Parts: sequence; structure tokens; C-alpha cells
Amino acid sequence: MAKKTIEDIDLKGKKAVIRVDFNVPLQGGKITDNTRILGALPTIKHVIEQGGTAILLSHLGRPKGQVNPKFSLAPVAKALADELGQPVVFIPESRGEAAEKAVSELSAGSVALMENVRFHEGEEKNDPELAKDFAKLGDVFINDAFGTAHRAHASTAGIASFLKPAVAGFLIQSELEYLGEKTESAESPFVVILGGAKVSDKITVIDRLLDKADTILIGGAMAYTFALANGKTVGDSLAEPKFIETAKAAMKKAKEKGVKFMLPVDNVTVDSLDFDNMSVGNIGASDESGNIPDGWEGVDIGPKTAALYAAELAGAKTILMNGPMGIFEIEACAKGSFAIAEAVAKNQDAISIIGGGDSVKAVKQAGFGDQVSFISTGGGASLEFLEGKSLPGVAALEEK
Ligand code: 3PG
Repeated sequence: MAKKTIEDIDLKGKKAVIRVDFNVPLQGGKITDNTRILGALPTIKHVIEQGGTAILLSHLGRPKGQVNPKFSLAPVAKALADELGQPVVFIPESRGEAAEKAVSELSAGSVALMENVRFHEGEEKNDPELAKDFAKLGDVFINDAFGTAHRAHASTAGIASFLKPAVAGFLIQSELEYLGEKTESAESPFVVILGGAKVSDKITVIDRLLDKADTILIGGAMAYTFALANGKTVGDSLAEPKFIETAKAAMKKAKEKGVKFMLPVDNVTVDSLDFDNMSVGNIGASDESGNIPDGWEGVDIGPKTAALYAAELAGAKTILMNGPMGIFEIEACAKGSFAIAEAVAKNQDAISIIGGGDSVKAVKQAGFGDQVSFISTGGGASLEFLEGKSLPGVAALEEK
């Protein structure tokens, strides 16, 4: 790792400002997925074990610079205390005299979570005054918020100019190791599963992965744009006719590079879909040539495709999954995504990396979250990283 890390600095008696990503899903005040909290534990524990004090900064949701109790981090402080097995002091402010006083009263070995940094307008603007105020809270800065590392905000990037040493925590290190090193020099066969709604969202990532992968398996609504490019009909499926040429170019590049580029041979279809009520009308399938008639939309890969993709995954040595195969949130459209998650989990000889966002949800919902090598805590951040973009939250840290 080119950046200084938490292991390069002395933490004894130091107040460590740690940017974590506790932007967790909440329903009725309850956290429905604590992956990001668990992900931050090694860094927090290391700081306290070394005799430091952990002062945590995070955002939650998008309160747009306004104080809004709906986006308070207070419930997260409770959940963190349960996971850590020690009290977590919740400080209802993240800048200013009261916050600084509360922090100064903390003893070595304690953990505090400050209120949502996005309650301040300057956070998303990367306001240097706010960054300076955050810097006043401690003696060292540790960024461990991989999920927010693609944002150049006051608490992710700005603060690093005012609080040094500024180093990477353990979570950021493992994210960069799995999404970076392990896919850069992947052991072959390297099979990539790409899904999600839009080709336009994934063009850059497809292009980059075509330089590295041996096989690419396409699913999700993105597949319907490829189907159009191959002259098939897609009925009412979500597709992007404007990106047909892009899809063709990707398939051409795959051919030139000798990358096996696989598209669904069958699809699950429905004649109506109500996402709000999580329900579908009649369920059908594409015809033998993979065509979908008008009045029907594709919502998942079909069983033949799932079997073909599973066979590819069985022989892989490295697997990267980014994006689900269909609308897995609705039971009737989840079989394909779950079958692929199972196939990934079954191959215990491969390094399997789940690249964030919806694919993580799908793998967990299918019950295989603990049978894969690595689950990224980044949604947008993992996509931008896989696209080869520099992440401001990492770039701001000190070089070794
Ligand atoms: C995420 O959930 O992807 C991160 O926490 C970043 O959140 P944002 O998209 O609101 O910046």
C-alpha cells in the first residue's frame, strides 16, 4: 500500500479522529444491515488497544446540510456499543466548542461517535473551515470510510490537510487489496459477473474488466441492451437503445481480446410489475431464441442461463461480482441472482469478491454472505474504484 496506514503511526495517548462510513440502512430506528459497522471494528479496536481514543465521524443519509433528527447517528452509537462490547459516547455535535469540550473529557481507550457530519452545509462542499474544525477534535486522522472515499468532502478529504498524520485504516486497506490488487493480478480463470440496470452506468467498468477477465457473465436489465444489439426483441424491458453501439463495441472488444462474453439465453418475464408493493402480475419467459414479446418485461435471468453461468463459476479461480441478475428484491424475480450467489459461494477454491451495493444485498439475502472471500462496503465507491478512478478520500492520505 502506497499510503501510510494505521500501523505506521503511534497511537498511545492520542485522540484519533476516524472517518467511518456508518451510512447504514435504518427502518423504524433499527439497523437492518450492520456490515459497515462490523467493517470498522478492527480499526476502532486497534486504536483503543494501542492506548488511543477513537473519535468517530460519519454521515448518515442525505440531510442536505440541515439538522434533521431522522438522520441522527444516535441509534448507530447504540449498535456500535453492542458490537464493541463497551460503551460508546454519543456526542450530539461534530464541530465547535461543545464538541471539542466533550472530546477533551474522553479518557484513553474510550470511543465516541459524533453526530452526522452532513448536518453541516460545508461537509459536502469540502469547506476548509469545517475541515479545520473537524481537525481540532484529535491528534491524528484515520480514514476508514471506504464507502464514502469517492466523495471529496470535509470529513473524508479536506480534514487530511489540517490533521496529520493522515493515514488509512484497516477497512480501506482490505478494500483496496481485494478490489485492487486481487483483481489487477487475478489468478485465472478470472470470471466477472456484471449486472445492474444500465449499460450506461457500467461502460467504463466493462471496458476495464475486458482487459483483465477471462469470462464476463452479463445479467440484470443491462443484458436487454446487449440483446437489442444482437437483434433480439426485448418487449417492455428496461433497455437503453441509445447505447446499442456501446454494447456492440464491448462485444467486439471481447472477441478481439479472446474474452468469453456471455449473455442470457433465457429470461424470466412479467406482464406487470409494482415495485412499491413488491408484486408482479403473470410470470412468463422469453421464447427459445431469447426474444421477449411486447407487453412483457424481463426481470431475471432464466434457469438455463443460471446453469450455464454456474458452470463457468465452478471452474473460476477469481470471481468478481458487481450487480444483481434481476429484481431480486421481489421474490418472483430473485431466483437468478440467488442461483448465481450460490454458485459463487460453492466455489471455495476461488477468491470471490462481491463488489458492493445491490450485489452484496443479493448475496446476503440468498444466505451466502459468509461463504465468499470479501464483501465490499462500498456501493458507488467500489464502482468508481473498479472504473480506475482515483478516490479523493484515499488520495488525500499521506504517502508512505
Ligand atoms: C454510500 O452509501 O454509497 C456512501 O455512504 C455514500 O453516500 P452518498 O452517496 O450519499 O454520498
